[in-house]
Amino acid sequence: MVDTAPRGTGVEGGVGVTALLVAAARAIETYRHDSLAQDIYAEHFVRSAPASACWPVRPDQAPGGDADPLWGRFARYFGLRTRVLDDFLLRSVRTGGARQVVLLGAGLDTRAFRLDWPSGCVVFEIDRDGVLAFKHEVLGALSAEPTATRVPVAADLRADWAGALRAAGFDPAVPTAWLAEGLLFYLPSAAETGLIDTVDRLSAGGSALAYEVKLEKDLLEYRDSPLYTSTREQIGIDLLDLFSLEERPDSAARLADGGWSTSVHTPFEFTDRHGRGPLPEENDALAGNRWVFGEKPRPAR
Ligand SMILES: C[S@@+](CC[C@H](N)C(=O)[O-])C[C@H]1O[C@@H](n2cnc3c(N)ncnc32)[C@H](O)[C@@H]1O
Repeated sequence: MVDTAPRGTGVEGGVGVTALLVAAARAIETYRHDSLAQDIYAEHFVRSAPASACWPVRPDQAPGGDADPLWGRFARYFGLRTRVLDDFLLRSVRTGGARQVVLLGAGLDTRAFRLDWPSGCVVFEIDRDGVLAFKHEVLGALSAEPTATRVPVAADLRADWAGALRAAGFDPAVPTAWLAEGLLFYLPSAAETGLIDTVDRLSAGGSALAYEVKLEKDLLEYRDSPLYTSTREQIGIDLLDLFSLEERPDSAARLADGGWSTSVHTPFEFTDRHGRGPLPEENDALAGNRWVFGEKPRPAR
């Protein structure tokens, strides 16, 4: 297997730092006057890690405000993504019948603390050990209380993670809402396919999955886009260095072949729906981003 990610296992090493980037974006979103999602914990993660301690956590701290490609447009993208995937998970557990949630590459996602889960719901958070340890420390210092049963699971998603999830109490007979938010483009292609197959294998009928992919054939074509350039120059994160540059599998087609119903959307469709969020632009590193939603049918009685 080609080792493209992650390098370093903590929140500040390799791909772990991207969890801090998303946390900063959520902190900013929380304080926007027209906020799409609220995460009161996000700013504490950003302030607690030396790598991000001086990043903005409020809109008025962002140099250039909304015009800034990183803390304006890109941060708003993460705010929109958070809202859309919050809605997906809540829909899946409230009306879809899922009783378990699995956050794949959970990073500093605090949905287990901030969403209003139905009683009896279990939220599994899979990420690398060092990221989960940092999260535990920060949330512990805040005495944060989860609103569902929360089970962190330390595992490398490039390897066989199903055993760790099952050992943590996951029940494959119970419908599950799965989420891979901001994850798959960091994984080698074979690991993405392995993850999709594992999700399918562990999903009872009535399960749902949402994930994000990038469709560009050559990500490096966007190296000079405002979004990648500003992320590199302002906070020293070269996303293209962290992404897997291998050709991507067609995971939506794979799920459909396995009987799932799937739908594929651009983020811009949700910008339209919510009346705020990023719009397409020239040389746009978000042009190939797609949010994919799948449902596994219940067996016919
Ligand atoms: C961009 S962050 C997204 C975090 C979270 N899903 C969110 O949207 O806030 C990517 C996360 O994926 C995790 N990750 C990347 N590769 C991984 C791997 N091979 N195994 C486990 N976690 C991984 C990183 O540690 C990081 O927390």
